[in-house]
Amino acid sequence: MIVCSCAGITSADIRAAITWMRAADPTAIVTPGKVYRALGRSPECGGCMRLFVNNMRAELSADLPPDLRDMRRGRKSGEGP
Ligand code: FES
Repeated sequence: MIVCSCAGITSADIRAAITWMRAADPTAIVTPGKVYRALGRSPECGGCMRLFVNNMRAELSADLPPDLRDMRRGRKSGEGP
């Protein structure tokens, strides 16, 4: 799926860039800017940022154990609201 039409970045490109960054440094903080740089591209209009970040979050949280997901909301996965 195309995520950034300006730079021609797909969700698979984002996944590959994050995998590569995590392999190089598992403690690296992954940002949209770092993903663009890893892919050798740069954003233009910024209209994709919400979708871009959502794709990054989905990819990054896929690596987390289930108990560590949703910690930002102050509860563990599977607990009610
Ligand atoms: S669509 Fe991504 S910068 Fe324009």
